[in-house]
Amino acid sequence: MIEIIRTEQQHVSALKSMLFRVWHQTYAPFLGEQRVDHLTEMWHQPAKLAQETADGACATFVALDGGEVIGHVLAADEGEGHIHLMRLYLDVAYHGQGVGDRLLDAALSAFPNGKCVTLEVYEANLRAVSFYKRRGFVFREKLRDEFASDELYEFRMWRAL
Ligand SMILES: CC(C)(COP(=O)(O)OP(=O)(O)OC[C@H]1O[C@@H](n2cnc3c(N)ncnc32)[C@H](O)[C@@H]1OP(=O)(O)O)[C@@H](O)C(=O)NCCC(=O)NCCS
Repeated sequence: MIEIIRTEQQHVSALKSMLFRVWHQTYAPFLGEQRVDHLTEMWHQPAKLAQETADGACATFVALDGGEVIGHVLAADEGEGHIHLMRLYLDVAYHGQGVGDRLLDAALSAFPNGKCVTLEVYEANLRAVSFYKRRGFVFREKLRDEFASDELYEFRMWRAL
């Protein structure tokens, strides 16, 4: 049985490994292995993941299967009811089972006074774009990826809460 719970300090090491694995599964095909290594090292440092668990403006959850971290969501309140979905990652073996929906619902329900939610998703990440559209997000902007030297675009998506 898969359970969704608040991320705790004890999950940080397994969460870092899961993010490394899922970032490679998701982004290596269009970002390349080296760039994924660099980005995941920069953004998923244990101290940063631990700090998020203690930050009152953040909602961080893990999905556990038999105690193993297989999914994660992070959202943050950026002020005035604006919620930003910063991460939503699920091991490929668990796609298509409703766990992405459960993680998204957990993160959004942590902000009962939220007015809207935004996120950025790579244009090439077709599965995630479909998922967000089904969940009511609409395109707001198309942005050039600031970390890419080549032509790579992200969509900024938005929905009301
Ligand atoms: C994004 C994510 C959380 C969604 O969870 P999920 O369980 O896979 O989502 P679902 O299966 O409910 O929905 C995916 C949708 O994409 C569709 N889809 C699957 N492959 C697709 C493809 N290649 N192109 C277009 N749509 C596709 C599915 O049919 C489904 O649509 P439907 O619900 O209308 O049938 C999960 O796929 C994930 O973690 N992906 C890797 C990490 C990632 O990309 N995170 C988002 C970063 S912004």
